Amino acid sequence: MNICVIGAGYVGLITSLGFAKHGNKVICVEKDIEKVEKLNKGIPTIFEENLEELLNECLISNHIFFTKDIHHAVKSSDVIFIAVGTPEMDNWDVNISQVTEVVNQISYYLNEYKVIVNKSTVPVGTQKYVEKLLLENGISRDKFDIISNPEFLREGKAVHDFLNGDRIVVGYDSEKSKEIMEKLYEPFNIKLVFTQPEAAELIKYASNAFLATKISFINEIANLCNKVGADVETVAYAMGLDKRISPEFMKAGIGFGGSCFPKDTKALVRIGEKNGCDFKIVRSAIEVNEEQRLVPVRILLEKFKELKGKAMTILGLTFKSGTNDIRESPSLFIIKELLRHGAIIKAYDSKASNEIKSIFPDITYCNNIIDSLVDSHCVIICTDWEEFSALDLSVLEEKMKSPIVIDGRNVLSLEEVKKYNLEYYSIGRGNYIN
Ligand code: UDX
Repeated sequence: MNICVIGAGYVGLITSLGFAKHGNKVICVEKDIEKVEKLNKGIPTIFEENLEELLNECLISNHIFFTKDIHHAVKSSDVIFIAVGTPEMDNWDVNISQVTEVVNQISYYLNEYKVIVNKSTVPVGTQKYVEKLLLENGISRDKFDIISNPEFLREGKAVHDFLNGDRIVVGYDSEKSKEIMEKLYEPFNIKLVFTQPEAAELIKYASNAFLATKISFINEIANLCNKVGADVETVAYAMGLDKRISPEFMKAGIGFGGSCFPKDTKALVRIGEKNGCDFKIVRSAIEVNEEQRLVPVRILLEKFKELKGKAMTILGLTFKSGTNDIRESPSLFIIKELLRHGAIIKAYDSKASNEIKSIFPDITYCNNIIDSLVDSHCVIICTDWEEFSALDLSVLEEKMKSPIVIDGRNVLSLEEVKKYNLEYYSIGRGNYIN
């Protein structure tokens, strides 16, 4: 099929490549010309497992092309995917202005029947809103159908998840568009769930809010574990053996970040409010997370009372391993709070995007772990990068002013920790002052 994907961000780029891999002719439209040029040359614009290989494979086979020209892309496609950003607003509403802008542009070039698929995460009711917008723009109803097709990929595993997801959700309101989606997704061999557009839109928020709640739940259990001398990993493992609970998303730590969970939980609360439903559980999950990411600062304040002038090392700036994305990363909140208390920060992350430097221009960015540890009073591990779990702990004793470790992602081996002269704090695996 001829497909056009509007937006070459995380979701747009992976969607484009996923369909190109399955033999469709894909045009991906992106307004940032620098991105377009890079992608057409086979240079990935995000750090993502297997992305470079797939991009080059699709370019060589001539199944993908990146452009700024939305006119040609829309005219020559049977199916148009909208994959633009839907950022959070201050009142937790979702800003869908980029969706509106794209739909207005599509309206100019809609020459014959096409299926318009919304892949962006959008509030319940957006499918109807887009339909109304197209009609107001003078497009006749027989020229389009609108599908709601939320995306569930994880950063870091985006290519894998798109090609091997657990399910594909399709909200539709015409048989014709349903059949087109069925045909398009057939080669993926993934369970398709067809439903109303409103349900499809809600499934995305409900899934993310549920997973975020699971994380906040295990984090509260972890905090209790530290008080009563239980090990959260054993608790989570045994809970996860119950198939109804599952072991996934039970890793305790300094909370969830990223472009989805923080934004989507808040959006669901707002969508609920607008419909007279108070999402008490989701609100609590958000609150627990906001407190959880500051646990390291609480530990330090209890220990030192005064942080002014103390050198602190932050290991890991991205919101999780496997990505260069720093959006809503717990480390950002920790750094901000430590700076407010007058601490001096040295940070290390080999992958974090340069954007971090504009957020915190006055901290020291080190090129390796060792430099970041020299003369530090404490090291806080904020991301579960393998490089940190493999760290030779003897360097902490040798290089740091005081070898205090706050393992915000429980990545260090307790067996190793106990061999060294460290003061070690974990999230629910106990504290060890050797
Ligand atoms: C998430 C959803 O998983 C995905 O389906 C959706 O499409 C987008 O949002 P992503 O944000 O890429 O994906 O990352 P994910 O792997 O889900 O992790 C989110 C955050 O939760 C990270 O900060 C991670 O460190 C944290 N997390 C995850 C935990 O603290 N514990 C866990 O057990 C799992």
